[in-house]
Amino acid sequence: MHLNKKITVITSLFMAVVVLASMTLKQQPQPEAPLTNLKVLPKKLTHKQVDKVMGEWAASLGVRCGYCHVRDEAARKTDYASDAKPEKEMARHMYKMMVTINKKYFKAGEKDSLGMVKLTSVNCNTCHNGKSKPELTVPKPAGFGPPPGGAPGARPQGAPPVGAPPAGAPPAGAPAGAPRQG
Ligand code: HEC
Ligand code: HEC
Repeated sequence: MHLNKKITVITSLFMAVVVLASMTLKQQPQPEAPLTNLKVLPKKLTHKQVDKVMGEWAASLGVRCGYCHVRDEAARKTDYASDAKPEKEMARHMYKMMVTINKKYFKAGEKDSLGMVKLTSVNCNTCHNGKSKPELTVPKPAGFGPPPGGAPGARPQGAPPVGAPPAGAPPAGAPAGAPRQG
């Protein structure tokens, strides 16, 4: 390659880099519009930080953003600042409850650098576990039978549980023929 040609190649490469660099600079994001309606989350959170929290909430409840946020049909986009959906207000309520539980019952009221109370013990997922509306379930009492799976201390199969009344007997203390309590 002639020296001349070399210089031309190097110059054009250099120009290309300058052009590319100026293009990326121009594409820098505009300063974000401020979040206008934070009532329970720390106001200093950035969009990115709020989005992360929101993503966690949505995943904990097994829902999309639109479960709590109303869509502005005219503008053809979600209006995140709007409080039109009751689910959003409920979520605020839940957030406050969750912070109180952590602070009061787990002494975990410490805040991180963003001013968020550290969720060391209970978060949305503890109760919701992927469901928007956790149902109240009351498990069948475990009783005094053998532990599952023949663990140490398991009693032989078929033996009645310790202290169990013979089949058909009324509960201890109940007069014969009385309706069963509870
Ligand atoms: C379970 C309900 C719920 C879900 C699901 C949810 N959000 Fe939110 N979002 C809220 C609540 C409540 C607030 C207000 C927080 C406050 O008052 O501090 C909020 C606030 C916001 C804000 C700030 C709006 C402003 O200007 O103040 C943005 C942005 C946002 N959410 C985005 C999202 C995105 C994106 C998703 C989906 C990944 C999402 N949200 C899912 C409940 C929800
Ligand atoms: C201590 C358990 C617990 C925690 C923690 C919790 N929730 Fe809930 N949440 C519930 C229960 C229980 C219900 C159902 C209440 C009912 O059916 O009346 C519920 C209902 C809701 C609902 C209303 C659902 C509907 O369709 O009616 C929303 C929204 C919600 N929670 C959001 C959240 C968010 C967001 C968080 C975390 C910031 C959270 N919850 C943390 C227990 C919890």
